[in-house]
Parts: sequence; C-alpha cells; structure tokens
Amino acid sequence: MTVRVLTGITTTGTPHLGNYVGAIRPAIAASRRADVESFLFLADYHALIKCDDPQRIEASRLALAATWLAAGLDPERVTFYRQSDVPEIPELNWLLTCVTPKGLMNRAHAYKAATDANAGGEPDDGITMGLFCYPVLMAADILMFNAHQVPVGRDQVQHIEMTRDIAQRFNHLFGQGRALFTLPEAISDESTALLPGLDGRKMSKSYDNAIPLFEGGARALQQAIARVVTDSKLPGEPKDPEGSHLVALFDAFATPAEGQGFRADLRAGLAWSEAKKRLHDVIEREIAPQRAKYEEFMARPELIEEQLRIGADKARALARPFLDELREAVGLRRFRARPAAPAAAADAAAGAAPLPAFKQYRESDGRFYFKLVAGGSDKVLLQSHGFGEGRAAGQWVGRLKKEGAAALAQAPVSLAADEAVVRAALDRFLEAE
Ligand code: TRP
Repeated sequence: MTVRVLTGITTTGTPHLGNYVGAIRPAIAASRRADVESFLFLADYHALIKCDDPQRIEASRLALAATWLAAGLDPERVTFYRQSDVPEIPELNWLLTCVTPKGLMNRAHAYKAATDANAGGEPDDGITMGLFCYPVLMAADILMFNAHQVPVGRDQVQHIEMTRDIAQRFNHLFGQGRALFTLPEAISDESTALLPGLDGRKMSKSYDNAIPLFEGGARALQQAIARVVTDSKLPGEPKDPEGSHLVALFDAFATPAEGQGFRADLRAGLAWSEAKKRLHDVIEREIAPQRAKYEEFMARPELIEEQLRIGADKARALARPFLDELREAVGLRRFRARPAAPAAAADAAAGAAPLPAFKQYRESDGRFYFKLVAGGSDKVLLQSHGFGEGRAAGQWVGRLKKEGAAALAQAPVSLAADEAVVRAALDRFLEAE
C-alpha cells in the first residue's frame, strides 16, 4: 500500500538552513520513495493570518516555490500546489467549521499563547477569527486529500490531533457507519528538527541566529558562518568537538567519515577559522548547485507558475469529486425527480417495514446521544447532537415519539437519510400509540 504524505509550508519569510535540513531535504528524500505518494503545498491562506503585507506574501510564496523546486522537488512525482489555487479547500473548511466545537479551538496552543500575551487587558485583543480558526483550515488541508501522514514541527502536532477529532466527529455525524475521512498521523522527527543556529540555540528567525539558505547568495552564507559562535581557544590548542554547534552544523552536511576527521582535527588543534572554512565548503558542496537553480527560477517566475498550475489541476482532480461526495453526505444535494410520489412511497414502506427504533448511548467524548434507526436494516435515519446530560437526550426521544415528524424542525438532530423517509419513520410512532 502506498502511504499518502502531505505537508504545507506557510508562506511567510524565506527558508533558512534549519528549514532545509529539518523539512525540505527529508521531504524531498521521502517523495522519491516508491511507496510514498507526496502532497506538498504552499499554505498561502495560512500566511494571510500572520501577515497583512501583500508584497511579503507574494515574495515569500515565490521564493518558497523556487526553493523547493531548486532543492530537487520533482513535480512529476509530487503533487505540488498553492492552497489558494484549490477552492475546494476553503469549501471543506466551512463544512468542518460547522462541526468543530468552539471549546476545542479555545484549547489551541497558538490561540492560548496569543490570549496569554494579552494578560491584564482584553484576552482577545488583536486576535482575528483567522488565527482562532487556524486549526480548522489546517484540518481541511489534510482531510481534503485523506493524508495518512503529516510531517510537521513539534509545535504543529496538536493541530494534527485536532484534525483527527474533527474528522472523527464528521465521520460520526455524516458517515453512516463508514469513514469519510482518514485519520491522519503526525510525523515529527525530533533529531532533525533541532539544527542549531549561530549561537547554539535552535535555528530560528525569531532568535536572529539563522543561516539563510539561498537568500543573499554565497556571500550571505559566508558572512553567517563567520558569525557562528565558538569558544576562544587559539589555533593549535586542542578543542572539544562534542557540544560544539559548529560540529553539529558540519554533521548535517558531511558524511560520517568526514565528521570523524573533523573531530580528530579539532582535537589536534585545528583553528576555528579553518574549521569554519571547512564548514562553509561542505555546505557549499550541497547548496551551490541548488542556489544556481534557485536563481534561474527566480529570474523566470512564469516557469514556477506553470508547475503550480499543473499541481493545482492534479489536486483538484481529486478534491472536486471528493467534495461532491461530502456535500451529498451533509445534505447539500441536487434536487432530482423523485422516483414515486413521496407520500405514497413512504406509506408503502411504512406498511411493510418493521418499526423504527430510537437508540440512546454515550460517546467517548462523555456526551449523550441518540439516533433513530430503521426497523430491520438498522440504517441510521437521524442522529442527535451531543447532550451534556442523559436526561436531556431522553426527553427529546420522548418528545419525538409523542409528536412524530412535527417535532423534527426543533429537535437538535441531523438527518442521516432523506427527509421524507425520516418523517415517515417518526410518524410511525404516532400510529403505534
Ligand atoms: N501550520 C503549518 C506550519 O505553520 C503549515 C500548514 C498549513 C500545514 N496547513 C498544513 C502543515 C497542513 C501540514 C499540513 O508549519
């Protein structure tokens, strides 16, 4: 079986070496595996949440697309697209929004961090609905293509858990016993996630310790490497390679044998300036050819545009039919000619079939539910929403039995079958009285 792997890159900023080692390089390696089907996209709708500068949005999505292509992404193998080129994603986003408990979003780390930052003032100051609903859009990205695995940084793992929750809920409400959505799994690689920056802390733009990948050309790389912090041991003095982040950076680009040699030379007194030159060489060996491609792509954005259009077509060829299925499942259906007069058909069915039944139960979310199932087939006709108390669910069952279809409009339930069929089934409780 092939595994479907999907990940998105928020298009703010430009990538640094940490992104390359931690995300870009492993994703491209994985996409070459025969048993993997890769989806990679520029999360430019997500970027709008974080950035309201159109120039920066545009520049970043171009630079990121050029980076991934230059780093060896093969658009033949990978479905590579812009989120904003797939209108099915925001459409699914809405279907999911409608089943996502607000309380779940209240617990999102990113939202909580933002409210905590407002301590003392209004907790929601400066917080947009985009930020609040960020995890739902991410769920739409993932569920749209039924991805099995989602490689993400550790800070994103919670969003994948939320995606699973939302998918489960949707499956439960609308799947009629079958899983419409695959539950995705987060893949978060602890070892590669931690490339150190210039000062030894995790490489990150926000620490101002990042080494740019292609931006600024070869010169910027050289200047950044000159700023890597080392101890003040003099040339000739033995140096301890373990614990040196310069060595960790070297390892990310060197063969194991080169790593051993480097360590031995440092212990034997290799000057830090010389060590930096070697670090530079080993990075350049891998990056320089890619940088040349990057510059070619940046000079001809229309080539990137063409690749992304092809990617969007591939993505939409999957997304559109699936979304049609989901629309059908939630009841957004085309009106079609009925096979027979509905009342007559329902009456005929009612006469023959055994009585429908209500079933009450409690879910793992701790809430109480009921459903109406058809007599004989056990097909779900009606599915209640969750109740905090069992009694409330019981009262609704009582009322529906007593009033039949007349109570349907007010009941906190979702139809799981044709409305005419549900109404006919409910009215049979009146006859049975
Ligand atoms: N939120 C992710 C990040 O900031 C980017 C992203 C958006 C994403 N949609 C996604 C990642 C779907 C994986 C799957 O890194």
